Amino acid sequence: MPARQTRLLRVDPMDPNPEVIQDAARVLRAGGLVAFPTETVYGLGANALDASAVRGIFEAKGRPSTDPLIVHVPGLEDVRPLVRAWPDVLPRLAQAFWPGPLTLILPKQASVPPEVTAGLDTVAVRAPSHPVARALIAAAGCPVAAPSANRFSRPSPTAASHVLADLDGRVDVVIDGGRTEIGVESTVLDLTVSPAVVRRPGGVALEALRALLPDVRLASHVVAEADAQVSPGQLLRHYAPNARMTLFEGPADAVRARVIDEVRARLGHIGRVGVLAPEEDIDLLAREFAAPLAAGAMVVRAYGRRRDPGMGARELFDAIRAFDAEQPEEILAIALAPEGIGLAVRDRLMRAAEGRVITLG
Ligand code: TXA
Ligand code: MG
Repeated sequence: MPARQTRLLRVDPMDPNPEVIQDAARVLRAGGLVAFPTETVYGLGANALDASAVRGIFEAKGRPSTDPLIVHVPGLEDVRPLVRAWPDVLPRLAQAFWPGPLTLILPKQASVPPEVTAGLDTVAVRAPSHPVARALIAAAGCPVAAPSANRFSRPSPTAASHVLADLDGRVDVVIDGGRTEIGVESTVLDLTVSPAVVRRPGGVALEALRALLPDVRLASHVVAEADAQVSPGQLLRHYAPNARMTLFEGPADAVRARVIDEVRARLGHIGRVGVLAPEEDIDLLAREFAAPLAAGAMVVRAYGRRRDPGMGARELFDAIRAFDAEQPEEILAIALAPEGIGLAVRDRLMRAAEGRVITLG
């Protein structure tokens, strides 16, 4: 892959400087790669109608060309030239959730290059709400294909520093607009099947979709995840820290007791032990393991609260990335309840753990 000189451009996330946006939009129009903040995670954008620019995204990320990209647009009217069907529910979904963290899969128009959709006959579209993303897409004047701006299999980036850690020298521009607000990716809803299917839980809760689509289903792989029926090794390594991770879920008391036992069984037998836990559990763990923590045999990180899964979503990927600096040999993670955005948090943790989930009754 030819090296690129990566320029870092800082903007006010709520009111980005138009000259900076024009600069980045010119790069997109010329076939370059621009990483930019959205309300979910940072995206790595290219002109969606420029097949060669789109191929650059796959090269920069090391992403297999079989994984299709989301096309970002200003709004519903900009979807028309990209799709071949206009289901009744589409305007109602757009009215309720756009701009925002909902991606819709529709039959694609021939104008969308096969590189974008991995040769599929469908295309994923979304109108992001982040002011920087909106300004950039409007200024570019073209639909913008953008996956999350991480190297393949790494946690999605929720800060410009995460993007640079993965993609410095591989993209043309990184727009730094601070931390992203939601922290997990958009909900991917497939409208090409009936009833509609959620292929990836995300920023829009399943419960919210049910208000408009009472019979919406979760894709079988997501349902299996919620039932913890996926066996280890069956899942692609995704969102993963360097260390092997195991996820624990169930009633809070049972999970705390089990994780304490599991940590004890490992201390002194393996290298550093990592624990990822909601804030409610941190004091207990700190008391229980004061000595190994002080000695560096163990490291504990908080992400969100059981009572605040939105905070868990915001902090999750940063916490997973932060473990890499501390190099634990293994990470024991405590899940949040799979409700509201907690379903997306649990899904990402389950994948980071490559399906190693222990469900307590
Ligand atoms: O929040 C987000 O969605 C972020 C920001 C940047 O918008 N983007 C993102 O993109 O997460 P990516 O590429 O990391 O994830 C896109 C997901 C993948 O799981 C992909 O398989 C699915 O959307 N997808 C895209 N097009 C599809 C299609 N035509 N049919 C089925 N799934 C599709
Ligand atoms: Mg991704």
